[in-house]
Amino acid sequence: MTKITINKAPEFLGQEALIKGWVYNFRSSGSLYFLQIRDGLGFIQAIVNKAEVSAKVWQECEKITLESSVELSGKISKHPKKEEYELQVAEIKIVQISQEYPIGKKDHGPDFLLDNRHLWLRSGKQWAIQRIRNTVINAIYEFLNKGGYIKIDSPILTPNACEGTTTLFELEYFDLGKAYLAQSGQLYIEAAIFSHGKVFDFGPVFRAEKSKTRRHLTEFWMMDAEAAFVEHEENMKIQEELICFVIQKVLAENAKELEILERDLEPLKKIKAPFGRITHAEAVKKLNKLGSDIKADDDLGGDDETLLTQDSEVPIFVEKWPAAIKAFYMKCDKSDKIALCDDLIAPEGFGEIIGGSQREDDYDTLLKRIKEQKLSVPDFQWYLDLRKYGSVPHSGFGVGLERLVGWISGTHHVRETIPFPRMINRIRP
Ligand code: 4AD
Ligand code: MG
Repeated sequence: MTKITINKAPEFLGQEALIKGWVYNFRSSGSLYFLQIRDGLGFIQAIVNKAEVSAKVWQECEKITLESSVELSGKISKHPKKEEYELQVAEIKIVQISQEYPIGKKDHGPDFLLDNRHLWLRSGKQWAIQRIRNTVINAIYEFLNKGGYIKIDSPILTPNACEGTTTLFELEYFDLGKAYLAQSGQLYIEAAIFSHGKVFDFGPVFRAEKSKTRRHLTEFWMMDAEAAFVEHEENMKIQEELICFVIQKVLAENAKELEILERDLEPLKKIKAPFGRITHAEAVKKLNKLGSDIKADDDLGGDDETLLTQDSEVPIFVEKWPAAIKAFYMKCDKSDKIALCDDLIAPEGFGEIIGGSQREDDYDTLLKRIKEQKLSVPDFQWYLDLRKYGSVPHSGFGVGLERLVGWISGTHHVRETIPFPRMINRIRP
């Protein structure tokens, strides 16, 4: 008997096959058992006909509970009306009879589901979100590899901050003093552009975020990309192309998942270059008109981001922020007050998905910024060194994976887009 995965069932139409999986639902009519089976790669209905199987097979059926693991063999048939395949069961082997499964009998609150995240991952919507996440990850790799970028793994344990000192996770590092969990690999991959030209990292980053919003995690995944001889304008173009590429991939590969999530596809299909562009100063003016009390030197709040994109079908770059409220490494325009940076804001209220900038490439200016922001010069000496030996204009950006997946999958809270979320009030399971 050929063992197949459920997604291959169409290729085995009319043939005998063995399927191994879990029973996620079942019902019986007295003479027929309908078992809904999933194996991770697909879903199929298995039909057991009392008149056609042995008494032993029928008895096994009667033992089955929700989430029991089983091996079923029989003939693959096609649903008379729908584009669905079915298994006409001849034999059943029970692998394990599941104990009473805690999820699914009634509506559960988010805390219960998060406490049971290790089980909740099996639910249809959670399955769909993780499949989309996987497509997004692979699409990002594909885009970057085609563009000539190579992956450089940046360290997680670091002696210095990348994104300001207020969200640092701190720990004692043997006899060497304090170390911090990386907030972004950016500074390290900047070093690698002098060796490889175009590089990226992709891994977990950490922020001791005090915020309890639907957009914040304390551990999340970031892809930082960095390229030599790229300035602010070109940097945004790369981000635009990357996002369009990822969306097309998900639309092409995850139709079933998007359907399970009841994601409206129309807004996704409209995502095309060019994206919107607005300076921070213009954004503040526009937001004030729309009723926000944001001031010239303020960061955008979540509500501001939603307001700003409410009439836009495409994401919007908010560029050229006051340097005073951005990171020390950003290059400024001639005024020396405005950073050549961008936040990319997704439509439909999903907020900032990318932060990027051109980097300060002049040694003395960078040193001045480090001092202005009261960072320790010795800790950043290695980073300053990069501006001594063949410094070049360069730029990069960081994509927040969970924010991007949240938007594409239409998931309200980012905690559902990562397998095991870490938030200010949650570390388990
Ligand atoms: O804007 P951020 O802080 O930028 C950086 O860290 C730069 N060093 C990146 C670079 O230029 N290479 O973070 C980048 C993205 C944000 O746009 C957002 O999507 C996501 O990371 N992000 C978070 N996602 C979930 N939870 C949090 N607490 C996040 N903080 C940032
Ligand atoms: Mg940012």
